[in-house]
Amino acid sequence: MRVLLIFCILYLMAPIGYSQLAGPPGPKGDKGDPGHPGSPGPPGQPGQPGRPGIPGAPGQKGDIGVPGAPGPYAMCTEDIQWLSSLKKNLAKLELAINYDFVRTAGPKFFVSNKEKGNFSRAVEFCSQRGLELALPQSEEENNILTQVFKNLYQWINVSNKKAEGNFEVDMKNRPLTFTKWAEGQPDRSIQDTGCTMLSENGVWHVTQECFLNAYIICQI
Ligand SMILES: *[C@@H]1O[C@H](CO)[C@@H](O)[C@H](O)[C@H]1NC(C)=O
Ligand SMILES: *[C@@H]1O[C@H](CO)[C@@H](O)[C@H](O)[C@H]1NC(C)=O
Repeated sequence: MRVLLIFCILYLMAPIGYSQLAGPPGPKGDKGDPGHPGSPGPPGQPGQPGRPGIPGAPGQKGDIGVPGAPGPYAMCTEDIQWLSSLKKNLAKLELAINYDFVRTAGPKFFVSNKEKGNFSRAVEFCSQRGLELALPQSEEENNILTQVFKNLYQWINVSNKKAEGNFEVDMKNRPLTFTKWAEGQPDRSIQDTGCTMLSENGVWHVTQECFLNAYIICQI
């Protein structure tokens, strides 16, 4: 049956003139579409290190900072008081060293050039130098003046006007906090004007003889 079929095909093909040999190649076909991209390859080796860079330009100036908080050592009030009293004493000392004689008596300095003068001269001498005429205001101060000046007479800052309190005030009319009147002093017989001096044994006398020469001692 199969043999018959092949025979029949060959028989039918013969009259149409087709040869059984292959013909010349045909024209080239069109280019095909590009294929899909391949998968990525393995990573490469690391490169060589680069050369060092050029140094950078200097930076800009910053703003001034805010002051810091005070450190842990704050000054206590006592230190400040001590410092200010030291300052005061140094200022006093600076004045005091200009005189031939200087004695401290607590917070006070007694100074003198060991000059003598009448009462108004004594007042003038101290005032002109920004000092006060000496006035002992405690037993200790009174003793210092007495001992140091060997019982020499010294004018002291007691009011010279009886009307202003019977010689019981200073020359600014302030009541004296300490007095050392000799017996019978202040002399009640003295009217109007009297000047007070520290005399032998440290006791005080009022005298009308304000022109007398007594030592001039000032206090700072
Ligand atoms: C006498 O003392 C007072 C303060 O007690 C003072 O103000 C006055 O200036 C003093 N007088 C003299 C002459 O130093
Ligand atoms: C006090 O002494 C001065 C000179 O130191 C003199 O000029 C003055 O007149 C005297 N005053 C009295 C009241 O003695």
